[in-house]
Amino acid sequence: MTTETGQGLFRVGVTRDFLQPDGTLGFGDIGLAMLDQAPGVEWEFLAERSTELRPEQVAGFDALAVLGSRISGETLSGAERLAVIARFGVGYDSVDVAACTERGVLLTITPDGTRRPMATVNLTFLLALSHRLLEQDRVARAGDWSRKLEVMGTGLVGKTLGVVGFGNIAREFFTLAKPLGMRHVTSDPYGDPALAVALDVELIGLEELLRRSDFVVVSCALTPETHHLLNEERLTLLKPTAYLISTARGPIIDQAALTTALRERRIAGAGLDVYEQEPPDPDDPLLKLDNVIVTPHALCWTDEWAMLTGRSAIGSILEVAAGRVPEHVVNREAITSDMVQTKLRRYRERSVESASAEAAKR
Ligand SMILES: NC(=O)c1ccc[n+]([C@@H]2O[C@H](COP(=O)([O-])OP(=O)(O)OC[C@H]3O[C@@H](n4cnc5c(N)ncnc54)[C@H](O)[C@@H]3O)[C@@H](O)[C@H]2O)c1
Repeated sequence: MTTETGQGLFRVGVTRDFLQPDGTLGFGDIGLAMLDQAPGVEWEFLAERSTELRPEQVAGFDALAVLGSRISGETLSGAERLAVIARFGVGYDSVDVAACTERGVLLTITPDGTRRPMATVNLTFLLALSHRLLEQDRVARAGDWSRKLEVMGTGLVGKTLGVVGFGNIAREFFTLAKPLGMRHVTSDPYGDPALAVALDVELIGLEELLRRSDFVVVSCALTPETHHLLNEERLTLLKPTAYLISTARGPIIDQAALTTALRERRIAGAGLDVYEQEPPDPDDPLLKLDNVIVTPHALCWTDEWAMLTGRSAIGSILEVAAGRVPEHVVNREAITSDMVQTKLRRYRERSVESASAEAAKR
């Protein structure tokens, strides 16, 4: 970490939720060394861990590297200096994007870090559910081998894999799942038909997908339009043998209706990484069901995820520090604003000065 301080330095704040209670980095290498090596850049962890960042926590920083903390309009009130918020991950429902744009702050995400790890998350659920992995585990631990037939799995060849949403993760997942020999269908009102043809995926309506699929994976963005997209009525369209995999955002599914469908065995089972409330209430009836695999919105957290995501997020920050526009900007409409352009111009000048000062030291 750079120790000198001054007006000319590009200051980066890193949210404290990257740290474990003992102060060590929970994810290991998240690319912070890239900040150490950048001339004219200094960084520090925010002093406090908070669910929603407060204005005084972000004042004085040019950039923020953010894991889970919420960023509201209030957070950004008075954040005159801030130019970029680099979110680790691709979901940004925790960030007030309009407020970022209004304040001349670029919001970046890390699709290049998340694509493969999330595709393997979906594959993990697909294989674990089809082989009834956890139920088999419980039978084996109980030593009750007479129940082996009760936990017989489902073969995948010729079955239909339906993915709601045909985005970055869905496309990677279809590619990874190709050798399994399933039929691939997707529903996405904004999906690219040419890309679907190229990947040998049938682009169909949501209701048809729910009726036809043996495994339904929810991988769309959470928007006002997709809130409770899988409501009680639509869940009734699923086959009684179907499995539902939910790895995008909890509120896309009506969780109470899903719990009832699972309890009444109107569908075979589910794999869930995300919930309407996170963490769910420990007494939530969903957590008591034996035909559900639950994970704590962390199944994609691997060393690979940390490394790819960290490099992407820190890379975005360093692009801004050099006065350039990073690749994965969410609020692209902000790029041409006077506020953003003024900040970038200043960083370009600062970056040239820092590089000259660094060269003079050598
Ligand atoms: N569980 C996790 O840890 C984790 C990690 C990363 C991403 N995610 C979530 O996964 C989801 C997908 O991520 P991505 O990188 O593929 O995003 P993406 O932006 O590339 O794709 C999202 C897709 O959703 C589609 N969509 C929008 N409205 C729709 C609708 N009404 N019906 C169907 N599709 C619709 C969009 O057209 C887009 O193709 C996001 O919700 C993200 O938050 C979860």
